[in-house]
Amino acid sequence: MKVFLIAGARPNFMKIAPVYREATKHKQVQCDIVHTGQHYDYEMSQAFFEDLEIPEPKFFLEAGSGSHAVQTAKIMVAFEDLCGKERPDLVIVVGDVNSTLACSVVAKKFLIKVAHVEAGLRSRDMTMPEEINRIVTDSITDYFFVTEESGIKNLTQEGKPIERIHFVGNVMIDNLFSQLKQLESTDSRCFATHELKTENPTYIFLTLHRPANVDFKDSFEEIASALNQIAEERPIFFPVHPRTKKMIDQFDITFSNNVKLLPPLGFKESLFLWKNAALVMTDSGGLQEETTALGVPCVTLRENTERPITIQIGTNVLGGTKKTSIITAYRESMKKNRKEFLVPPKWDGKASERIWEVILNC
Ligand code: UD1
Repeated sequence: MKVFLIAGARPNFMKIAPVYREATKHKQVQCDIVHTGQHYDYEMSQAFFEDLEIPEPKFFLEAGSGSHAVQTAKIMVAFEDLCGKERPDLVIVVGDVNSTLACSVVAKKFLIKVAHVEAGLRSRDMTMPEEINRIVTDSITDYFFVTEESGIKNLTQEGKPIERIHFVGNVMIDNLFSQLKQLESTDSRCFATHELKTENPTYIFLTLHRPANVDFKDSFEEIASALNQIAEERPIFFPVHPRTKKMIDQFDITFSNNVKLLPPLGFKESLFLWKNAALVMTDSGGLQEETTALGVPCVTLRENTERPITIQIGTNVLGGTKKTSIITAYRESMKKNRKEFLVPPKWDGKASERIWEVILNC
């Protein structure tokens, strides 16, 4: 069985790593990584391949940046060419980025089966490009691999046949557990942020990159103002995404000295920081889940989440994007007792194993 495993943007790399590793255990499977090139900077791409110990992609499509249409189109054209030449039996896409949508559409038109890892998540917020990507991908998916129960509900409500929906758990968490183990045997002095962490025993870890938060001056200034106020109480460690960096410069956003601006970090170094944070503040989807798995309180800087289990479990709180709501969520979260948190069903490090069990037995 010839399988293409698609990755394009930073949050894809941690999802494909355990799926790829598990594939190598099955002799009848030839699984090749296809990198679309959506993310291309060393810190956004290659560093992750090294950190996550996945081999170089077999195919690199070099799509690069651009408007949504340009980026998606470039990926589609290049992937169509590749599928025409290589004719895989199955294309596995993960998450909700432009590469996910582009490759699933191309594969389906070649009558190649599509498996979507992280299917069924819905924010109901059609202003998010990711929501559109999720809906389009799921409308043509053959195998729905679901991370939480809300995914099953959403897909069945949309009329998807239950026999194609597989509640396998969360591959992000497979990767998290394996990286945690590796981190235990890593000398943390190799991280550039080692000193920063040692000097600041209590800190907040922040990530921020959603277009809705950083691409509009008023929204970004409002969030920055909340962060500057919170940073008076605790330092904030903030690895800055390239999109965010561009907007900080363009809007001349100022952060107090207690907001420690860092370059984008590799997976392990990022984990090294956030796992011991007093609180994580983020607009990322993945971190909402990873913090839940480790019981680290999280304030999500958005009005909604497609990952409701993280709220039900209690680790995650929607902080919204207004100064007052962010500060209120911060104060509430700091009072939480992390020992009370449970881990969602099937977030046990075995999702990739279940995925291959389904693919090979269907
Ligand atoms: C994309 C995903 C988003 C995901 C995020 C994680 C879509 C629609 N969005 O958003 O879901 O959460 O990745 O990072 O797929 N850039 C660089 N170097 C790079 C990549 C990008 O400098 O290696 C800059 C470019 O100026 C580019 C901008 O960042 O225009 C945005 O990149 P893009 O991939 O279009 O979107 P992200 O905001 O990264």
